[in-house]
Amino acid sequence: MTETSEAAKPQVAADAPRVLKVALLGGGTVGSQVARILVDHAEALAARAGARLALEGIAVRNIGAPRDVELPRELYTTDAEGLVASADLVIELMGGIEPARTHILAALRHGASVVTGNKALLAQDGATLFDEADANDAELNFEAAVAGAIPIIRPIRESLSGDRITRVLGIVNGTTNFILDAMDTTGAQFADVLAEAQRLGYAEADPTADVEGLDAAAKAAILASLAFHTRVSLDDVRCEGITKVSAADIAAAQDAGLTIKLLAIAELVRGESGSEGVSVRVHPTLLPRTHPLAAVRGAYNAVFIEAENAGSLMFYGAGAGGAPTASAIMGDVVTTARRIVAGSPGRTGTATRFLPMVGPEGITTSYSIGLEVSDQPGVLSRVASVFAEHGVSIETMRQEIDGAGAEAGVAPLADGARASTSTASRAQLRFVTHRASEAALAATVADIKNLDVVESVTSVLRVEGV
Ligand code: NDP
Ligand code: HSE
Repeated sequence: MTETSEAAKPQVAADAPRVLKVALLGGGTVGSQVARILVDHAEALAARAGARLALEGIAVRNIGAPRDVELPRELYTTDAEGLVASADLVIELMGGIEPARTHILAALRHGASVVTGNKALLAQDGATLFDEADANDAELNFEAAVAGAIPIIRPIRESLSGDRITRVLGIVNGTTNFILDAMDTTGAQFADVLAEAQRLGYAEADPTADVEGLDAAAKAAILASLAFHTRVSLDDVRCEGITKVSAADIAAAQDAGLTIKLLAIAELVRGESGSEGVSVRVHPTLLPRTHPLAAVRGAYNAVFIEAENAGSLMFYGAGAGGAPTASAIMGDVVTTARRIVAGSPGRTGTATRFLPMVGPEGITTSYSIGLEVSDQPGVLSRVASVFAEHGVSIETMRQEIDGAGAEAGVAPLADGARASTSTASRAQLRFVTHRASEAALAATVADIKNLDVVESVTSVLRVEGV
């Protein structure tokens, strides 16, 4: 062999870094940060991924719009379709259902893998995307879709795949946690805190998806699908937002050593027949102030998991924001690139069974019910008898005068509840029940509303963790 022998040539070819063509769809809050990391940390990423990640282009609507990150102008394009067609790896950060869905399906169909943070699309039509990925031996990763920077998808999908998760409780919406936390700290009403959150940029001009719980519901559907190896879509999630939570509810919670959080709750439940099902819901929830989730302040997120063998686990961190969310996206990008480089087959979805959804009739929870009543003899016993008629057991009862949290003397109730007495003509009563079904509770509340001594039912909140 000479010095320019044949042996030297493959040596050069083998050393040449492999290049993966990356298409970025969306150059907004998250997309611009992803582009920054791809460009600024190209060498480190290449070393970790085993291939150079070549940013081929960034699809946007308006090429001339000002951007958070300065990048070469020629990277921007409005031709998302063309960008996708030649990519090995597509990062979808447009958001919304269409055209994101079409672009993701096109990428998967030609064998490209996809990384996305699009919870709305995954919760609405994740099954179609996973089936397409499976059919084409491609990979679909979405760590950023739930709780921003917090590693939660991979721990559920991989680390806990040998365990049996029984329950997931999550604070997965930063906007609502910011609002509830501020109400708890300042005593202000929801509308005032929302306005402040909008002024500070925590809440969007149209806050509906956040405050009505829809954003959290999409994330709950994704978490439930992964945790229980089944398919749960947005339509399966019962959802109630925080718009009805009042300063009085917050004050009453504080008096009782509780706090109010918007929780996404997914749990395995056994129906009356003994068969297993899934309940997924989002609603404002009273939690003991000692519960780990009660310590989650401001716009932070946390997910609390109960698993048969691991016990309780909590994952905490920034649930949104350009750079934090880009961190989760880039973790998926490197992992996906490694798989492409290794030539290993795409991972399939994790749904291995079909579990039926369990409706309100199959769920038992404790409730806190606030009432405004006439403060006269016999009212308590009339209200208490309605609870008894529906088999709902009262755990505690407090009476407040004029809703100001004032508490008078405490008198025992026959069923062990504690009552306080006052001489005001109107009184606020707050009952906390033992666990009862939603159906029994709804019937109780409906009958209580019809009592002539009851002015109004001021709130009905579920209690967890007691
Ligand atoms: P932005 O609205 O800030 O950015 C969206 C980007 O997509 C923009 O660059 C926009 O272009 C582009 N785009 C939208 N529609 C089209 C279209 N039809 N054709 C071409 N380009 C389009 O969104 P975010 O960065 O905040 O969010 C992106 C995704 O990440 C969403 O799915 C979101 O749910 C998810 N996510 C976001 C988090 C966050 O904190 N922001 C947290 C976790 C997940 P142009 O700039 O020209 O308007
Ligand atoms: N709007 C969401 C929140 C951020 O407030 O947490 C993205 O999911």
